[in-house]
Amino acid sequence: MPALLASLLVVAGCDATTTGEEGPTGEGEGGSAWLSGTVDERFQDVGDQLGGFSQTMLEVGHRYSELHWAIEDENWEYASYQVEKIGDAVARGIVRRPGRAESAESLFLNGPVEQMLEALGDGRPEAVQDEFSEFTAACNNCHVREEMEFVWIGPPAERTTPVQSPDPNR
Ligand code: HEC
Repeated sequence: MPALLASLLVVAGCDATTTGEEGPTGEGEGGSAWLSGTVDERFQDVGDQLGGFSQTMLEVGHRYSELHWAIEDENWEYASYQVEKIGDAVARGIVRRPGRAESAESLFLNGPVEQMLEALGDGRPEAVQDEFSEFTAACNNCHVREEMEFVWIGPPAERTTPVQSPDPNR
């Protein structure tokens, strides 16, 4: 059995011997007692628990805030790290919700993400700030396109990140 399939089956609380059969319903079973029913039903449960695009956006919202403070700190490495993670999260999100793919790709993944990374690579503060405005506009363009215009994004007013400005003496 391919390794990926084997590990997915482990996640779903079953192994090859139970494929297609009723799964475990009792306690224990490797901590997966909440998974029960057929393999298809258990995969459905795992999918439901992973959630849809709003789970992606919870992660993206957090990382956007981190990105903002990283830019304020001129911590270009941490900022680039966050942009990469935002791109990865959106790419995974459209696997879950393919209906969002066209907007995500045309308005965000193909353009703003790469341009933000380029600006951070150059590390010129003014250009980075300009690009961050474009990046924020791309979030909002997609929200408008996806009929979520009431989710209007802007830089957070208050610092909540535990990640500190890099200490030059470190
Ligand atoms: C595919 C286009 C798309 C892009 C690009 C996008 N969003 Fe979203 N966003 C959505 C959709 C759709 C929702 C509503 C999700 C749902 O309810 O399933 C959403 C919801 C949100 C939410 C509310 C999440 C919640 O449930 O609490 C936040 C915060 C958010 N987006 C932030 C951002 C930020 C920040 C960016 C840019 C870095 C961004 N989004 C880029 C489509 C997008």
